[in-house]
Amino acid sequence: MKLDVFFSPSQVDEMLLREKNVVVIDVLRSSTTIAVALRNGAREIIPVGSVESAVKVSGNLFGDVVLRGGERNGKIITGFNLGNSPKEYTEEAVRGKSIIYCTTNGTAAMVKARYAQKMVVAGFVNISLAVQYIKECREDFFIICAGKQQLFCLEDAICAGMIVKMLCDDDSLYVELNDSAVAARALHKTIGRNLLKMARSSEHGKHLMEIGFEDDIKTCVKIDSIPALPLLVGNVLKLKKDEQKPSAAAETKAS
Ligand code: MLT
Repeated sequence: MKLDVFFSPSQVDEMLLREKNVVVIDVLRSSTTIAVALRNGAREIIPVGSVESAVKVSGNLFGDVVLRGGERNGKIITGFNLGNSPKEYTEEAVRGKSIIYCTTNGTAAMVKARYAQKMVVAGFVNISLAVQYIKECREDFFIICAGKQQLFCLEDAICAGMIVKMLCDDDSLYVELNDSAVAARALHKTIGRNLLKMARSSEHGKHLMEIGFEDDIKTCVKIDSIPALPLLVGNVLKLKKDEQKPSAAAETKAS
């Protein structure tokens, strides 16, 4: 299989992504927030490219079964129900809801990949599920880092490098890498040892700490802490059936 890493969505044309298999990475914080929301029972996540689109899509459904979530400059958008801290997407807040979701970089990358043959959203919190999915597909994949304002960002590149390493370490696979994949793997090897330290030192990590979201950084670097893989179904992100978490009530009943 061929693995091509792109450090920013600007490096790849939307038309090129049609019929391709894509992993979108936005470690701080969209990949994490979406995984948490779906794990906590959100019906679906509808990524949109602008606040205007979010308002249009939610229309008069807004409020009961539909929520608006996302951020600008890391903070909640005026008129939205939720910001982009994973902590806000509790089971109580999101179970059964459709979430129209708009963020600065993450949803821009997801919207760009909306016509992909297959698309999953990965971060450190669900990295093994993402790697397993790629292995099961056994096809070429584009790994697209959401980046920051269409530029390189450290945490996404290192997450991409970790995915590349995990696939290359599987002797049953023959993996061809583009130069960015080789570079991402090398980055993971050199500065991916302490993910929390790396994320806190990144540009966006520093910004999140300045605006009071230091805890989110710890959440976003916890490897395999959220067993949920967001998968593109049509033009929305849903959780694969076998990972659906029963509601707290159902779990109590079963015990
Ligand atoms: C992004 O789109 O880059 C993130 O959502 C930013 C954030 O959560 O602060």
